[in-house]
Amino acid sequence: MSRYASYPSLKDKVVFITGGASGIGATFVTSFHDQGSKVAFVDLKQSDGDALMRKLGGNAWFKQCDVTDAKALQGAIGAAAQALGPITVLINNVANDTRQTTAEMTPEAWRKDLAVNLDPVFIGSDAVYPMMKQAGGGVIINLSSINAILGPERLAGYVAAKGAINSLSKTLAREWGVDKIRVNALSPGWVVTPRQLELWLTPEAEAEWMKLVALKERIMPEDIARLALFLASDDSRMITGQNLIIDGGRT
Ligand SMILES: NC(=O)c1ccc[n+]([C@@H]2O[C@H](COP(=O)([O-])OP(=O)(O)OC[C@H]3O[C@@H](n4cnc5c(N)ncnc54)[C@H](O)[C@@H]3O)[C@@H](O)[C@H]2O)c1
Repeated sequence: MSRYASYPSLKDKVVFITGGASGIGATFVTSFHDQGSKVAFVDLKQSDGDALMRKLGGNAWFKQCDVTDAKALQGAIGAAAQALGPITVLINNVANDTRQTTAEMTPEAWRKDLAVNLDPVFIGSDAVYPMMKQAGGGVIINLSSINAILGPERLAGYVAAKGAINSLSKTLAREWGVDKIRVNALSPGWVVTPRQLELWLTPEAEAEWMKLVALKERIMPEDIARLALFLASDDSRMITGQNLIIDGGRT
């Protein structure tokens, strides 16, 4: 038996996850699937999405989709709802943490950064709102980052988007609380994903990180998923408009 919680309120819930084919998003997909939720996910990466579908024995819904294309994201949300029923949990998870100095950044690169890191949070939330309202409530979880607070170099667009996501989550929570829709931001510290290991998480960088945190252990995607499960479940029914930080004590 697992030492971690399972949530009866998540059984048969229809959950839509952006960027679910790899990284933390893929762990969201498997974690909600393991709770008995009906999981739909989208991603740019067709082959990773197909591989995850095979791992789940086909027991989920996947569509290749670029979330920077508003119509494609709206269409995927509509198609998932047609297939599985009204979406009552949305996890806005996609991001791209490509780095460059602000001096190097062109206006086009800035817009591109916000197009992937911020705009889909609005488009996705706006698309699920009517169905959540009609269903009598729902939950939106927006992946933010402690970098919105720390403001590291070479991540201007990403960091600005994450700060905006924290603020947007609060506003949506206020506007939609009357419809029993809860909206929270979830801010991880440095999570050990395949992309981080490949690009940024060198032994030296990790040693620096470990000096700055209270808990000297790696944060794994499963740690983030367990908080998302709690936030999506009825166990957190009075938590909304918050930015929940899970960073081993870095901030
Ligand atoms: N990994 C970390 O250390 C960390 C730390 C803080 C916050 N976060 C946040 O957690 C979330 C997940 O991060 P991750 O590390 O798993 O990211 P990741 O880059 O490993 O995975 C992101 C997924 O989104 C997909 N994706 C990217 N652009 C897309 C697009 N335009 N359309 C559709 N899919 C697209 C990718 O293919 C990938 O499957 C992000 O919001 C990120 O900002 C991560």
